[in-house]
Amino acid sequence: MKFVWMDVDPGHDDATAILLALHCPNITLLGISTTHGNASSYWTMRNAARCLQAFGASSRYPEVRVYPGAAKPLLRPAKHDPEIHGVDGLGGVEGLPDSESPEVTRWLAKDADGENIRALDGMARAVKQTWNRGNGHKVTIISSGPMTNIALFVAVYPDLLDAVEEFVFMGGGVGLGNRSAVAEYNILCDPHAAQIVLEAPVKKTMIPINVTHTAIVTRAIHEQLLVPGTQSDTGGPLPKAATNLRHTLSTLISFFADSYKSTFGFNDGPPLHDALTVAYVSRPELFKSTRYRVDVELTGAHSSGETVVDVWDYQSCDNNGWGAGSKNCIVTQSVDLDGFFALFHD
Ligand code: BDR
Ligand code: CA
Repeated sequence: MKFVWMDVDPGHDDATAILLALHCPNITLLGISTTHGNASSYWTMRNAARCLQAFGASSRYPEVRVYPGAAKPLLRPAKHDPEIHGVDGLGGVEGLPDSESPEVTRWLAKDADGENIRALDGMARAVKQTWNRGNGHKVTIISSGPMTNIALFVAVYPDLLDAVEEFVFMGGGVGLGNRSAVAEYNILCDPHAAQIVLEAPVKKTMIPINVTHTAIVTRAIHEQLLVPGTQSDTGGPLPKAATNLRHTLSTLISFFADSYKSTFGFNDGPPLHDALTVAYVSRPELFKSTRYRVDVELTGAHSSGETVVDVWDYQSCDNNGWGAGSKNCIVTQSVDLDGFFALFHD
């Protein structure tokens, strides 16, 4: 069993990561923190709660809560992404409860004074409690947005890092960007935070866009998600969804597909970037990966926000730790797509 904390900025593909985490039998979800990123911190917090409500979290996870975190990057101004995700972060998604409704607000973590409990406090408490429980279980922390909260956790709670199993993050690219020639969105939003996380003495796994761009929800996969077993792939109107949840998921995919078509020219469907983090934690054998030294370019005129992956080991790093002087990150290189989509369908 993997004990998992998620730090997210929903975001269409973050929502699919939450959906997958809620239903993976070998994952125990401890809590969700939210960050600035695809939308403002108000929207990412409320969207995580809307997802918990709409995706049926109450049956397995009545106690899980959402903890709002950083509203901006460490040094840079916040940079949201309405072009891809809509102003509210989940543009075009039907069937989600209203952001201010009591059924959404109830998922927000509150202290005795009724104030929101913040991301760092929630993460620290979950890591401590999980470690103290049973045989000292460690927590895997998944990141699918800018890594501001994770960097602050590293800085504020160094004593808890031994109780962290791994940081698994979607972000970066190996010689590839989506917000500049070489910078990927999550890293570019807060490159300083990403570098702090990469330097932390904790095992890390990076799922770069080189891999996530292969996990495309094609028309055939979209149809199967709407009605299990169909695979007509006619190009005509989509079939009617078999359930309300499938309808919600279909509207999410359709909006994301349109964004990726108009912005990046993806004609076959949108990539489910963030869901791969959860798939990696649940089924690591689906991925091929190699351990490298990875750093973030913080100042380059043309390369700010690039993840610099030292594939030839120019820095002569070792495998002894995960911080300074070490090959500090496992970089995934491919995913078994049949296995991934089978997991998602399940
Ligand atoms: C990442 O940026 C966001 O648009 C997605 O949610 C994903 O986490 C992909 O570059
Ligand atoms: Ca995201």
